[in-house]
Amino acid sequence: MRTGSLIVLALQAASSVLGAPQATSTAVPSSDPEEALQQLQALNDAAAQQAQDAVSSNNSTVASRSSAGGACTLSNLKVRREWGTLSKQEKKAYISAVQCLMSKPANTPSELVPGAKNRFDDFVASHINQTMEIHYTANFLSWHRYFTWMYEKALQTECGYTGTQPYWNWGITAITGLENSPVFDGSDTSMSGNGAVVPNEGDVVIQTNNGLPPIVLPPGTGGGCVTSGPFQNMTVNLGPVSLSLAGGGVGTNPDGQFAYNPRCLKRDLTTKVNQMFANASAIVSNILVPRDIDTFQMQMQGVPGTGNLGIHGGGHYSMGGDPGRDFFVSPGDPAFYLHHSMIDRVWWLWQSLSPRDRTQGPTAIAGTRTFLNSPPSPNATLDDLVDLGYAGGPPLPIRDLLSTTAGPFCYIYL
Ligand SMILES: *[C@@H]1O[C@H](CO)[C@@H](O)[C@H](O)[C@H]1NC(C)=O
Ligand SMILES: *[C@@H]1O[C@H](CO)[C@@H](O)[C@H](O)[C@H]1NC(C)=O
Ligand SMILES: *[C@@H]1O[C@H](CO)[C@@H](O)[C@H](O)[C@H]1NC(C)=O
Ligand SMILES: *[C@@H]1O[C@H](CO)[C@@H](O)[C@H](O)[C@H]1NC(C)=O
Ligand SMILES: *[C@@H]1O[C@H](CO)[C@@H](O)[C@H](O)[C@H]1NC(C)=O
Ligand SMILES: *[C@@H]1O[C@H](CO)[C@@H](O)[C@H](O)[C@H]1NC(C)=O
Repeated sequence: MRTGSLIVLALQAASSVLGAPQATSTAVPSSDPEEALQQLQALNDAAAQQAQDAVSSNNSTVASRSSAGGACTLSNLKVRREWGTLSKQEKKAYISAVQCLMSKPANTPSELVPGAKNRFDDFVASHINQTMEIHYTANFLSWHRYFTWMYEKALQTECGYTGTQPYWNWGITAITGLENSPVFDGSDTSMSGNGAVVPNEGDVVIQTNNGLPPIVLPPGTGGGCVTSGPFQNMTVNLGPVSLSLAGGGVGTNPDGQFAYNPRCLKRDLTTKVNQMFANASAIVSNILVPRDIDTFQMQMQGVPGTGNLGIHGGGHYSMGGDPGRDFFVSPGDPAFYLHHSMIDRVWWLWQSLSPRDRTQGPTAIAGTRTFLNSPPSPNATLDDLVDLGYAGGPPLPIRDLLSTTAGPFCYIYL
């Protein structure tokens, strides 16, 4: 039975990419976590096949559309993989490259951002600087796609990394628990584990600044400085800017958002939050249910007032700690990039179900240029530039960032 329904799902996914996107509305996300994980993989298999076919036949709807990045061909098509599927050596190579980035000098002028001490911090500073113009905005997905890609490129070109940006599938950790997962188990092939136990932490209260009730989350199982794994001794240099604290309250460095404030990396792994908001059914539902980009990106970020953080907030807040619970400074935890690679993968999967209108033209984006349109701003356009600041790269129009196999990009997920 189960195998049969998966085949039907894969066929529906495949037929929808051939021009009948309505077909997907009949595919129902399974509420069984294991089965939903298989649905996710079936969607990925279909999307990967479609992208490979398009790249090899130069299908301009899916691949090689823009001249911005040269041709994407089967021979230069890169594959991003789940952390748990990498070999020990591959994980260590990635970790070393991240540590290398943290050892290189910053490009950000210290007069501008005194707290940007290394190349890794350039990315954190750029995210802090633009936070209110890249979340709940039309550029949320494209900005973070380009940002994650630029980070991957920095690891490759500045630190000799030959692999790709791995991702963290929250659907798996919702089942295994974060502490037991290859991403967070604290081994020397993980992204480091939990923080030291802080007893009786109290709930985390996420304040919303638009008059809506706060979202209350349970605390995690750690809370203190990370005690294991490769990033055990890492220094977080920037923030906090808007850090939701266990026990309530918000942490903010009074010296300003760009001040130098060296401290340890804290984690508060919270599998419960992962399970509530970013389980496999929630992921598959986010891919299969929304029919337009506005609904898709709102479901992903959490519709204000519903108390749901969406899969985006679910992943962030399940890491917990500092800067994991800081909306501005979150890229200061190196696991951020595994999380955002998964966010990008979910967008790519959703796009693959109807690439003609989800990767080009006016239906590919929706929204304005400011956080929940506050303060009010005009609708964004496909010509709006995404500028990563000192993280690097030329400012590029949103239209070039909509496909992973056209424009400057040439990658898929497995
Ligand atoms: C290109 O791909 C799109 C989307 O998958 C499909 O609808 C279209 O038929 C393909 N065109 C060609 C020429 O293969
Ligand atoms: C696809 O486009 C590239 C670059 O324009 C070209 O070199 C290649 O021959 C094309 N492949 C096919 C199958 O048309
Ligand atoms: C922050 O954004 C402003 C306005 O775009 C820009 O002038 C400044 O260089 C940016 N600072 C950083 C650290 O990226
Ligand atoms: C962190 O520092 C401690 C104390 O200096 C040292 O024993 C440990 O090996 C370091 N860990 C890593 C991963 O560098
Ligand atoms: C899975 O996520 C959805 C959406 O957030 C939620 O409604 C559901 O309760 C979650 N399932 C479990 C078992 O927590
Ligand atoms: C902005 O976009 C929305 C749809 O996303 C549309 O309903 C609205 O009319 C647009 N506003 C302007 C001024 O174009």
